[in-house]
Amino acid sequence: MSFTLPALKYEKSALGFISENTLNFHHGKHLQTYIDTTNKLVTGSNYEGKSLLEIMTTSSGPLFNNAAQSWNHEFYFNCISPETKAPNDKVLALINENFESLDDFKQKFAASAVSNFGSGWTWLVQTGPNKLKIMNTSNAANPIVDGFTPILVVDVWEHAYYLDYQNRRADYVKDFLEHIDWDFVASQLRSYE
Ligand SMILES: [Fe+2]
Repeated sequence: MSFTLPALKYEKSALGFISENTLNFHHGKHLQTYIDTTNKLVTGSNYEGKSLLEIMTTSSGPLFNNAAQSWNHEFYFNCISPETKAPNDKVLALINENFESLDDFKQKFAASAVSNFGSGWTWLVQTGPNKLKIMNTSNAANPIVDGFTPILVVDVWEHAYYLDYQNRRADYVKDFLEHIDWDFVASQLRSYE
């Protein structure tokens, strides 16, 4: 069985801060290519039948790059929403425990994303019970490989924002932070019990 393009949970024209044009390329072309290439590389290999997560955590080179990019993009597209939502009590309590406030978290996350050199991803991860950390990764790298649990990510590859924001990554990240699907974030929290 091969991997297929995951459906978006919103209309491509609904996000507001990211245009339908960007999503046509980012979801319809870039992610599709990562998935198609993963399928090609897996065919006839020992990875046939494995999940993206299994492939991502056990492969290297082109297969890792394409499987991880497939995983990262599905996660990213799930992290955003046309609506401006608020974190639920549990997520807010965790953020307040690890940062000075929700605004302080947003400032630090934005600063990390803006300073992420080149192409990559900026994550909020759980590193332990009640422990959150902002992390940058480069290219396709994913924090799961290092044992962390991602709960939020922003794609800072230029293909994610260049058609709408050109070189203004800071504006893209600022708008991203107002379109987080906090319900999805809450659903990704790991129980350490
Ligand atoms: Fe991307």
